[in-house]
Amino acid sequence: MRDVTKDNITDTFLGYFGEQTDPRLREIMESLARHLHDFARETQLTHAEWNKGLDILRQAGNITTPERDEFVLLSDVLGLSSLVDMINSSDDGTNSSVLGPFHVSNPPVRDMGADLRADNEGELILVRGRILDSDGNPISGATIDIWQTAANGLYSSQDPEQDIYNFHALFTTGADGEYQFTTVRPVSYTVPTDGPVGELLESTGRHPWRPSHLHYIVKADGYRDLVTEVFPDDDPYLDQDTVFGVRDDLVMTYVKQPASNFPESGCELSGKVDKDYYLVDFDVVLSKA
Ligand code: BEZ
Ligand code: FE
Repeated sequence: MRDVTKDNITDTFLGYFGEQTDPRLREIMESLARHLHDFARETQLTHAEWNKGLDILRQAGNITTPERDEFVLLSDVLGLSSLVDMINSSDDGTNSSVLGPFHVSNPPVRDMGADLRADNEGELILVRGRILDSDGNPISGATIDIWQTAANGLYSSQDPEQDIYNFHALFTTGADGEYQFTTVRPVSYTVPTDGPVGELLESTGRHPWRPSHLHYIVKADGYRDLVTEVFPDDDPYLDQDTVFGVRDDLVMTYVKQPASNFPESGCELSGKVDKDYYLVDFDVVLSKA
């Protein structure tokens, strides 16, 4: 095509594809080109604005390391990560939510009922529930990978003062599908703001906060892996999570309990709790693979 115009450039682009192009790749590239070209036409994008957009990507590349992925964070704050999660979420299981960048591989295997607090500060919470199939049957042998922030709002991989496995644990369910552990109430925290994403948030008048949450990855043979989070219903950022991770079925009430209600057995802290604690009941439903 010699006579490329504003109006025919999209079709021209599509016409350059080779015969052998994978059909799914063709579908994605076609849609991407249509939306991208329409975006530029609709906004009458200037050179300076186009270059600013590229600059965000350049800076994201410069700050990204194996431990810190600014491109994922950009996708998160644009709502793209959550949208992809929702498009691919099952209809008959617990909703998924963002993975985030702070999961660590090979978390320590802990006994059911373990206390994750070590010498961390914070309010004691007992988290418990069942891993179920979509008919309500318990799933035995499911693994539950848990992680959360410390009281300073940092994950262990962000904070040289913390042991890398601080607040990371892996549990496996027995025949009853039940799980329980104690930990401290996680705190609300900000996503990293020292890169181009922080600048983007600031220039669009957005805050960088996420409501407090516990992260879960639940896996069981024959079922779809579930990456999700559980949030307390009284968190001030619940209705404005900067990465759009909150779903109705992931919001739980943290119910205050007297020490006398703490389970007499089954927990590392059984018989040792002498103050009020909070109970978080969160059942997880996995959908079939
Ligand atoms: C997180 O929940 O750990 C997280 C998710 C998205 C961006 C940054 C952090
Ligand atoms: Fe998180």
